[in-house]
Formats: sequence, structure tokens, C-alpha cells
Amino acid sequence: MNYKELKEKYGTPLYVYDIHRIKEIIHQYQTNFKSSQFETEILYASKAFNVKEMLRLIKDMNLSLDVVSMGELYTAVCVDFPSHKIYFHGNNKTEEEIHYAIEHNVGILVVDNQYELEKIEELASLYNKKVSIYIRLNVGVEAHTHKYIITSHIDSKFGILYNSLEYRNMISLIKNSKHIELKGFHCHIGSQIFDFYPYDIAIEKLVAIAKDFPYPLDMNLGGGFGAYYTETDHPIGYEAMARHLIQKLEEELTKQDVKIHKALIEPGRSIVAEAGTTLYTIGGIKQTPNRLYYFVDGGMTDNIRPALYQANYTLDIVGKENDFKNKVVTVAGKCCESGDIIMENVILPEAQKGDLLLTYSTGAYGYSMSSNYNKALTPAVVFVEDGKDRLVVKRQTLEELLEREI
Ligand SMILES: Cc1ncc(COP(=O)(O)O)c(C=O)c1O
Repeated sequence: MNYKELKEKYGTPLYVYDIHRIKEIIHQYQTNFKSSQFETEILYASKAFNVKEMLRLIKDMNLSLDVVSMGELYTAVCVDFPSHKIYFHGNNKTEEEIHYAIEHNVGILVVDNQYELEKIEELASLYNKKVSIYIRLNVGVEAHTHKYIITSHIDSKFGILYNSLEYRNMISLIKNSKHIELKGFHCHIGSQIFDFYPYDIAIEKLVAIAKDFPYPLDMNLGGGFGAYYTETDHPIGYEAMARHLIQKLEEELTKQDVKIHKALIEPGRSIVAEAGTTLYTIGGIKQTPNRLYYFVDGGMTDNIRPALYQANYTLDIVGKENDFKNKVVTVAGKCCESGDIIMENVILPEAQKGDLLLTYSTGAYGYSMSSNYNKALTPAVVFVEDGKDRLVVKRQTLEELLEREI
């Protein structure tokens, strides 16, 4: 990757994606998440990075799509993503979103609660359509990860508890419904998980629940597979994870004498995180009594994860990757927040103003969580493949920044 050339062409900060890496990871999932006992399907959780060109890539690679909002769904509609391969998630879909999803024949609405179910019934009857749904379950599994990324503990805002009053109400509503068909269950037990164990527990619970039903259901195991950010991360490997899930599911189905129709997974982060790198230009270099700062021309507006989750990254300075690393540095952004820090106490070589700094593994939840705080302009996004780069999202302009202001 010629980062100096990319800086000349597109400026900084810049999100750069290695498309070969994305394809390689998708391929790993596709070749290993397969069973002779049931159908399988892989969804890309587009919240990780949802832009038109990314969704075109996902479409070309024959994956299905997880969306959680009107905006994500609209982007999919704009690239003619096959509607039957779209799964609409979210814990509080608005009436407008449900309308839009039904109108566009979204494949599955993943229902989080009774209110949503009642709304779907009401709106589906207006369209006189039968809507296929999954119920999102809270299987009570607490995956070992940072607490802000855990999404399935007992009081989680996501999903419902098996056999709770709300669950039973929903099942009886579905039984009496002319417009809703329950196709399966969904769970998502957390994010950045490096362990088989929480998935095993979730699978055991889901299979036991599927036993209650007289027909084979679908079982969506969610995403959450850990990606590599720093040397303290030890991903199991996406092939190994996919193979393990299939094996565990097959074993459990045999053990509990249950049949399912289809198993699904929906990785987001693991598909795009490692393929993305953010390129910054170093401006000020400041020595305070206890700290050496390298200031970059972006920060929490293009990568909120360090401030939000204390996320860590691996950094490098372009052209100095192999230099002696002898400086303990705090890399800080340009926002008016003292928490606007990319990495604290990272060991880097001596830098000069104008050097280019790389933050690796920013492909997931970087661009998609970016903001205009301090009226920062959203950076451009470039895809690089076979040595060729192409702009897929233009840098925001000052005019665009004020476009909606009266
Ligand atoms: C329902 C659901 N599915 C899939 C994902 C993707 O998770 P990850 O990006 O960790 O793979 C998320 C992330 O929050 C989610 O909420």
C-alpha cells in the first residue's frame, strides 16, 4: 500500500480498505460454515461498515445482509440488494421502518418485543402480506468482552427471555396471526469474542427451545467473532470458529433429537475490521511534563471506539515501520475533549510534523460511528485491490456540512 501516494491523492484523515482481505475472510466463512444436515446462510452485519460500495461487494459475494435502521435498509435498496436476503434487526423499529420493510419485501423481520410484533401484524394486514419473522431471544449468555459491548445479559435491552410472559404472549399472538409466520430464532451474545464456550451455551439453549416447535426452524447465532487489534488479541481464526459452530450445532441437534431448517451467522466486525486502516497526518508534537503527544488531524470524530470502549489499536508511522521504537507516546486527536485519544502510552519511533500515522484494524465501527462533532468533516473512504485504489466515499465538504441547516 503506498500511503504517501494515497495522501497526495485523497488527503487525510482517510479510511483505506484492503478488499482482498475482506474477500479472503468472507471466503473462510463460506467454505467452513456448511452442513450436510441443514441449510446455512451467512449475513454481513452492515452496522460495522455500511456504504453502497461495501454492500455491492457483499451482494457480489453472495452473502445476505443484516440491517438495523431505515438508513441501512435504504442503502441496501439503493444498490438493489436482493430483498429476500435482507434481515431487519433492531430493538425499537419505528412504524415508518416497519412499513418500509414490508413494502420492500424484506426477507425476515427480526422481532425484539411484543410491541414490534403487534405493529407488524397491524401493518402486514394493511398490505395483505404474510411477513416472515425471527424472534430475538435473550439467551442469558454473557460473553467475555468489554461490558459496553455485551448485548445479551439478563437485563439487556435486546431480545426477550424464553418463556417469560412477553415470550408466551408473542407465541400465542403468532399462532393466531394471519400475517406473521415464525421462521426461527435469533440471538447475538456479544462482540469481540475469542471463545467457543459462550456460543456453545447459546446453541444448547436455542436447540432446546426449537424442540417446542412441530416444524424445523431457522437458528441465527448472531455475530461477535473477535478481530485482531493488538497483540493481546488472540482470534481463534474464522475458519475454526465457523467449523466449530457447525460441529456443535450438529452434535446438539443429534443429542436433543431436534431438526432445524437453517443455521445462520452474522459477522460484522470480523469481516471488515482488519481490512481497514486509518491514515492521519501528524501535526503538533507536544512534550508536557509527563507525556509526549503526537497530534493527528482526526480523532474521536472518525474513531470513537477508544473513547467509548477504551479500545486499543496497533499504530505505525509510514516509512518508519522498522525504525527503533523509543518513544512512549499519546496519540491524540484534534477535538475539544481531553478523551479524544487514539492510543495512550504506545511505543513509536520519533516522528516529525507531516509524518503519516497509521491506525490498523479500523475497518469496523470507524466510519459507521463517525460524527461531525466540532464540525469535523467525515473523511473519504478508499478501496484498494490489486494495487489499484478507488474512491468509494468522497470527503465531506463544508457546503455539505451545512446542507440541512436553515
Ligand atoms: C444483532 C447483531 N448481529 C450482529 C452484530 C455484529 O457483531 P460483530 O460486528 O461483533 O460481528 C451485532 C453487533 O452489534 C448485532 O447487534
